[in-house]
Amino acid sequence: MNKLANRLDHFSDSIIRRMTRIANQYDAVNLSQGFPDFDPPQPLLDALKQVADHGPHQYEITWGSAKFRQLLAQKQEKLMAMAINPNENILVTCGSTEAMMCAVMTVCNPKDKVIIFSPFYENYGADAILSDAEPIYVPLIPPTFEFDKQQLRAAFEQGAKAIIVCNPSNPCGKVFTKEELDYISQLAIEFDTYVITDEVYEHIVYAPYKHLYLANFPGMKERTITCSSLSKTYSITGWRLGYIIADKDIIDGCKKIHDFLTVGAAAPLQQAACAGLALKQDYYDNLTKLYTHKRQLFLSGLDKIGLSYYEPQGAYYVLVDISTLNPFKTDLEFCEWLIKEVGVAAVPGSAFFKDSDPDTTKYRYIRFHFAKKEETLLDALERLSHIKEKLLCQSH
Ligand SMILES: Cc1ncc(COP(=O)(O)O)c(C=O)c1O
Repeated sequence: MNKLANRLDHFSDSIIRRMTRIANQYDAVNLSQGFPDFDPPQPLLDALKQVADHGPHQYEITWGSAKFRQLLAQKQEKLMAMAINPNENILVTCGSTEAMMCAVMTVCNPKDKVIIFSPFYENYGADAILSDAEPIYVPLIPPTFEFDKQQLRAAFEQGAKAIIVCNPSNPCGKVFTKEELDYISQLAIEFDTYVITDEVYEHIVYAPYKHLYLANFPGMKERTITCSSLSKTYSITGWRLGYIIADKDIIDGCKKIHDFLTVGAAAPLQQAACAGLALKQDYYDNLTKLYTHKRQLFLSGLDKIGLSYYEPQGAYYVLVDISTLNPFKTDLEFCEWLIKEVGVAAVPGSAFFKDSDPDTTKYRYIRFHFAKKEETLLDALERLSHIKEKLLCQSH
């Protein structure tokens, strides 16, 4: 047979999503792929039942249902402190996954350079490859995951067409400070670079950290493509609803890509999700409280077990340092062992680093998420409490 497209040679299936499949096979507690095991808010469930009887069941307007865009504009206008026209500045997508791919494809020509902070959310590598763009990786340096200003400037100096900023960040849980965002903005303006943000964890930030929208920084509105999602905010990762907010010219470009990529997000689910977009501020305050509690529970459990980690400032992940524990060659082997012998699934940290990074960097971590019911987290912690004795048996 004739060979399939060359682009397939440059990336694998998602390791994150692969870990879920392996976890299911071994009935492990799945703390790998980040999704809740608890229900979405009741108003969304009620609305979903209504939709079954009353529709819509056919194609929505390709850019997203008018009601959805209206409610989203109202919600985000308040948060982002800027005017958002639902007809001109919003595109509803199939998750932030499509939003990000659409944004990179809208901005980049083949061989254009895209700056990506590392460790990075796995999808960005594929976004760049499928757009024929070339990533320039800039490290976020533990334990605080700050970037080196000179290194970032040097990346811009290579003529980057865009920079991707995941804030709050997956996997490291970094929340970018005002000073850092100011610096990124200044460089973006100086080098005429687009900024593509991924803000799916905008409502999951732990005090005293604060989430700030890059689009709202001086001079940034016209060059920022804000991507986000309802997946994490309303615990509906399976509904596949996301969006892009940007200036009209950019949205018009994104609309073309979206039109032929997916036609549109699921009409019944957009309708039901409107019940979420209409929720009041107390919903978001309670969401923060809920995750603050889960974070505390899970991290104090890791402390008791004696696993070392970097404390997340936002999002619902924690990077655990396995460098002194891992008897295997790679972090993937460690995670496979963890699933089979301990009964807990994590994502190997190498999914968040580029292949050419040294083994000491890319095999050093595993990532757990804590978007689970309290009982699930306690079950996982109980299983993990045997990790050291099981590792001892393993090495004998
Ligand atoms: C940073 C980040 N962006 C995007 C996504 C995917 O979002 P969606 O479900 O909206 O496609 C995830 C999911 O884990 C994520 O962590």
